[in-house]
Amino acid sequence: TEINLEQHFQNKIDNEIRIEPKDWMPEAYRKTLIRQISQHAHSEIVGMLPEANWITRAPSLKRKKILLAKVQDEGGHGLYLYCAAETLGVTRDETLRDLHSGKAKYSSIFNYPTLTWADMGAVGWLVDGAAILNQVPLCRASYGPYARAMVRICKEESFHQRQGYELMMKLAQGSPEQKEMAQDAFNRWWWPTLMMFGPRDAESGNTEASMNWRIKRFSNDELRQRFVDMTVPQAEYLGLTIPDPELKFNEETGHYEFGEIDWEEFWNVVKGNGMCNKERIDVRRTAFDEGAWVRDAATAYHEKRKQKEQQ
Ligand code: ACO
Repeated sequence: TEINLEQHFQNKIDNEIRIEPKDWMPEAYRKTLIRQISQHAHSEIVGMLPEANWITRAPSLKRKKILLAKVQDEGGHGLYLYCAAETLGVTRDETLRDLHSGKAKYSSIFNYPTLTWADMGAVGWLVDGAAILNQVPLCRASYGPYARAMVRICKEESFHQRQGYELMMKLAQGSPEQKEMAQDAFNRWWWPTLMMFGPRDAESGNTEASMNWRIKRFSNDELRQRFVDMTVPQAEYLGLTIPDPELKFNEETGHYEFGEIDWEEFWNVVKGNGMCNKERIDVRRTAFDEGAWVRDAATAYHEKRKQKEQQ
């Protein structure tokens, strides 16, 4: 019966036994995984755009190679994640249709513009740093295909974070103008990065169920706090000022306390009204339309081969 199946499923979860595509699972579990994995895939694909913006203007061949590799990695991450979502019974066409129609969410962070070269440092250091904190626990997510996809993704994210920090270090130790550029990028990316972790726990409708199902292992606020604690000393090492007058270390708790996030700005971006939302979706839609001939050619080739095999 359904109750026994559900009990058996939860027992597996509680005993850290992975759920695989053909196993029985509650509809709500399947739905929330499709939701999270497809949002995550979209974030990777849309996340290519702010950095792709700087590939042609990278200041050296070395920097250009690093940036190219990183942006290509993100394309790969999106593909593994779309495949993981497909194992749950949605097609890639459906998932992409939802992205292109504006129905599907993707990370708020990628709706901010990359204005200077220093943004390539800030994005790698902060955005990929935040992504790692959020994604390392996902390597232990209860759903097998998602958890396995995350292993390689996290390794690559770690390279992305390091190249960003190294780029920031070069600027921070450079001329006064370079240091100013680094500080300006830091000022613009700090708060949006804190928003990446999602709404406060009290407003996070999905956390409780996702924690019971061991998709999420830590709450949004826990990971956000961990990020602040980790990043403040890194900023100090660079000699950059954290753009938060309320930031202070609490000796008793051993954690940094920080100012209030502008939640109105967060929800505004999530709802599609951020600085670059429209541009991002337009670019994705155009790329999809312009790639139609490749998909058509691949399908035609497949059909031809099938016919040949039948002869
Ligand atoms: N940007 C856009 N939407 C967000 C964000 C954000 N930064 N944070 C939360 N939301 C959305 C949620 O998707 C949810 O909407 P939905 O119910 O319509 O799906 C709503 O706000 C409420 O949030 P939560 O209930 O807290 O949602 P959830 O439990 O899924 O937690 C989180 C959000 C932490 C982002 C989770 O989905 C997650 O860990 N996802 C996988 C990692 C990921 O997607 N990272 C993307 C950025 S990193 C990168 O791509 C490089």
